Amino acid sequence: MSSQAQIKRLTARDIRSRKGAEPIVSLTAYTAPMAALAERHCDVLLVGDSLGMVVHGLDSTVPVTLEMMILHGQAVMRGSRRALVVIDMPFGSYEESPEQAFRNGARIMQETGCGALKLEGGQRMASTIRFMVDRGIPVMAHVGLTPQAVNVLGGFKAQGRSRAEWPAIIADAEAVTEAGAFAVVLEAVAEPLAAEITAKVAIPAIGIGASAACDGQVLVLDDMLGLTGRVPKFVKLFGNLAEEVDRAVAEYAADVRARRFPGPEQVYAVRD
Ligand code: KIV
Repeated sequence: MSSQAQIKRLTARDIRSRKGAEPIVSLTAYTAPMAALAERHCDVLLVGDSLGMVVHGLDSTVPVTLEMMILHGQAVMRGSRRALVVIDMPFGSYEESPEQAFRNGARIMQETGCGALKLEGGQRMASTIRFMVDRGIPVMAHVGLTPQAVNVLGGFKAQGRSRAEWPAIIADAEAVTEAGAFAVVLEAVAEPLAAEITAKVAIPAIGIGASAACDGQVLVLDDMLGLTGRVPKFVKLFGNLAEEVDRAVAEYAADVRARRFPGPEQVYAVRD
């Protein structure tokens, strides 16, 4: 057996079993090379529908299509071997009915080979999550700030900053747990609320702008690398790749303009 064949991918069940144990490390990935780099340190690669904004220059995740998610999902699966790859179900592909969600979810899984799907919504999506899980699709839930609802929420706003909002958000996290989700993302949720939900639910709570007390964390890779222009204020910049790209491209442009060979040497000089 080749060494490649011996690498076993993490499963939704493996991630579920990490509740209260070793923190789950997760980042988004949209391309094969970034997936290969990120999975060296990550348990879960999320092909987030944030790719609409990060890669395609859209204003929100609302216009993202099933085809876009499948294309990027295939790339991330090709680039990775060990991480669990979770693909977002895009807006409009699952909200209508459990049957619609299962049909589109099955298509994503068949065409990409990914290990799980993520969808947004708490109590209102619980029966859909149950339907999908019962039929073989592992589901990661996503509550708190749900970016696909930006047009209803009136912007990308933190959730649970008023204690009056807490019961509904707690009920959302409990409903998706009860419905069989293997993990739940808590996005932009007030810190003490995120800590309380993490302590309350039996599945891993994965925070993004939520609380260090969560069972794991996820960030948009391009945000934390400093590749995207405006990042949410909870994002720490772990690198500044935009500056590095700018420096490298400027150096290349200077070489071209000065008619310097833009490589280490004249590689294809005539030999005889
Ligand atoms: O689309 C995405 O990248 C996400 C994460 C921010 C959790 O859903």
